[in-house]
Amino acid sequence: MPGKKRLLTGLQPSGDLHIGNYFGALKPFLDIYQDYESFLMVADYHALTSKADPDELRKNIANVVRSYVAIGVNPTKAVIFKQSDVQEHTELAWIFNCLVTVPFLMQGHAYKDKVAKGLEPNVGLFTYPMLMAADILLYDTDVVPVGEDQRQHIEYAREAATKFRNTYGELFKEPKELILAGVGVVPGTDGEKMSKSYKNTIPLFASKDDIAKAVMSIVTDSSGDTPENVYAVHKLYRNEVELSALYEEKKGKYKDLKEALIEDIEAHVAPMRKKYESLTDEDVKKVLEDGALKARAVASAKMALVRENIGVTL
Ligand code: ADP
Ligand code: TRP
Repeated sequence: MPGKKRLLTGLQPSGDLHIGNYFGALKPFLDIYQDYESFLMVADYHALTSKADPDELRKNIANVVRSYVAIGVNPTKAVIFKQSDVQEHTELAWIFNCLVTVPFLMQGHAYKDKVAKGLEPNVGLFTYPMLMAADILLYDTDVVPVGEDQRQHIEYAREAATKFRNTYGELFKEPKELILAGVGVVPGTDGEKMSKSYKNTIPLFASKDDIAKAVMSIVTDSSGDTPENVYAVHKLYRNEVELSALYEEKKGKYKDLKEALIEDIEAHVAPMRKKYESLTDEDVKKVLEDGALKARAVASAKMALVRENIGVTL
């Protein structure tokens, strides 16, 4: 696809996806990926920095792939691959680790947040931004669509490119973040940011019953006519004109409004869920195998140049 700029993004396979992930990451990718030569990476080695459970990891990797295909991403129009299938990522990360300093990495948000919570960070978490830099720079990536929380990691990737240039010469393209505007932060059932770590999610591909359970658990403040937390989710599914009419008609009837929201979510997700459920493990494997071949071709060519530049080839 000559002429198109290259886009790469990644998602950690770290749990069941929720509607916050859909509106904040999956849908924005779907909307733009065909304007670029797009690479979509399942960041399975990044997921190792937080939890070790092989069966869960396997399931989550497959579910990320299923999710993207189910929402409408065409695997022949984007390279969908997993990080662990392309060994050059960890190899290049090592080289970047040898170029940046410990104090520099100590400023990393992911690391600082864990320390602030009193948790013991592993070394993988500490050097996580250099693995992400390798993910991005190996592919001469132009743009990296991510949420605001990942902005610093793209700055770190640019810094890795600069450090490499200062030490060995020009080799990497400087990537730009594409901070996804629009939806902002999708609130969870408690009104805080929806996140699997807060257990306040509305699951994306769950059964209607499970979606209903989550919606019914949305915390409502009984002082007003409009249940703000319900409305905040509802406006992702319907335009404000329709919604104001509905919320006016059902003023104060929180249960009716929640039921209307359940129906709207169900109508939206039903066709995607059907596709999600129809994708077999074999389908997923095939997508990842095809993707790995394409990703490896790019990454190994780039890595050959890196090896020459740093002086390990004779
Ligand atoms: P979680 O917070 O549930 O652990 P992740 O950190 O794995 O979610 O996020 C995966 C992607 O989904 C990221 O791109 C992130 O920006 C996006 N995302 C997660 N939660 C939300 C939310 N509540 N609103 C908007 N986007 C979100
Ligand atoms: N760190 C990102 C996250 O947690 C996932 C990720 C890994 C990524 N490698 C990437 C995102 C490369 C964009 C580009 O959401």
